[in-house]
Amino acid sequence: MIGRSALIFPRMSTHTDLAAFWMPFTANRYFKQHPLVVTGAEGAYFIQADGRRLFDCLSGLWCTPLGHGRPEIVAAVRAQVAELDFAPTFQVGHPKVFELAARIAQCAPAGLDRVFFTNSGSEAVDSGLKIALAYHHARGEASRVRIIGRERAYHGVGIGGISAGGIAANRRVFGALSAPFVDHLPHTHDAAQMRFSRGQPAWGAHLADALERLVALHDASTIAAVIVEPMQGSTGVIVPPVGYLERLREICTRHGILLIFDEVITGFGRLGANFAAQCLGVIPDIIVFAKAATNGVIPLGGAIVDRRIYDTLMRGPEQAIEFLHGYTYSGHPIACAAGLATLDVLAGENLVGRAAQLARVLEDAVHSLRDEPHVNDIRNFGLAAAVELRPREGQPGARGREVFERGVAAGLLLRFTADTIAMAPPFISSEEEIVNMAESLRGVLRRIA
Ligand SMILES: Cc1ncc(COP(=O)(O)O)c(C=O)c1O
Repeated sequence: MIGRSALIFPRMSTHTDLAAFWMPFTANRYFKQHPLVVTGAEGAYFIQADGRRLFDCLSGLWCTPLGHGRPEIVAAVRAQVAELDFAPTFQVGHPKVFELAARIAQCAPAGLDRVFFTNSGSEAVDSGLKIALAYHHARGEASRVRIIGRERAYHGVGIGGISAGGIAANRRVFGALSAPFVDHLPHTHDAAQMRFSRGQPAWGAHLADALERLVALHDASTIAAVIVEPMQGSTGVIVPPVGYLERLREICTRHGILLIFDEVITGFGRLGANFAAQCLGVIPDIIVFAKAATNGVIPLGGAIVDRRIYDTLMRGPEQAIEFLHGYTYSGHPIACAAGLATLDVLAGENLVGRAAQLARVLEDAVHSLRDEPHVNDIRNFGLAAAVELRPREGQPGARGREVFERGVAAGLLLRFTADTIAMAPPFISSEEEIVNMAESLRGVLRRIA
């Protein structure tokens, strides 16, 4: 670990300034001894109190691909808060919520054109799972209640998400709250087979056949849905092997199981197409999204649902509520205004196409780090990449943290999960900024122990 003085983080005035905020997914005590505080942001950079800039290597938390302070979004939010700051969407509507749903449906694969809004990715996941159960119930197959997730999956922190998720540490303490009927597919990462693959690994399509075994074990009549991230982001950019998702799709269809793609990270352009579904040519029954939908400016998530699922749920008496689910802030007007402005900028500047172009630059840049010290694997897909380091003997995670801290000193805000460094730069980055990010990381890797 490098010394505190070397971090050059601006200090807050006293420790009590930091005490009250219980930080999420953070080592609170360590942070409060080594605080990193940003006070502004502009384009692809965060700004610290003393004016130093940090390149936003992960687009916030995968959520600000258009960069910070986009004037179009700022203007839309300002206008909306003055015009209609809140309206319920339970038995009342407002124009922008219908408009945003229609616009998102236009971006989605054909047939997925009904949109349910939430406030976050976790809620989007839980809503998608509930839609799956409600659908089977409405079809007269109420026995289909089992959810199949995948090892190493991150689906947020709701009860559905931690049940379907596959990060052992996130599940351990909360097991008692976990949904009772879940099972998991194996994850698709096998370093021996795919280390340093560029884009999709050629090996691993057969891992989807594990779903057949789960169907044989539990019987298809008990399984509602399979949920997967097309690319696992939070656990270190784990890229789907060629043919793997196609095979999952085929098995789900054959057994009447819904396929849900968790596109909270991949949605809205990250892989160089609107959604991973289109990038990969594999169309799920439900896509859940969040994050980049509003460029991270106002929280908003949701589920994009196949029309046939929606229609099935619309069969009851016309005056009855068809789906007993929703959030006070589902389709919040300000979030919708931010979402519409985000879609305008994405389309107006062809930023999804730009993400596809930059993806090639990122691929070359990160793979050039292959022979640097401690590098165990490098993975990339779309405008996302991960550099996995060998853990320091007896100190897992220490090397990742040191890279993060030295990265800050070198002008990078990187994201580390244990010893894996993830990068998903903004779509507005220049090619030079992406190359510089990798070069700065090279310098950091050469300096760490
Ligand atoms: C794939 C995936 N699903 C769900 C979530 C949860 O989203 P949120 O943090 O908005 O609840 C995340 C967050 O990173 C995610 O990566």
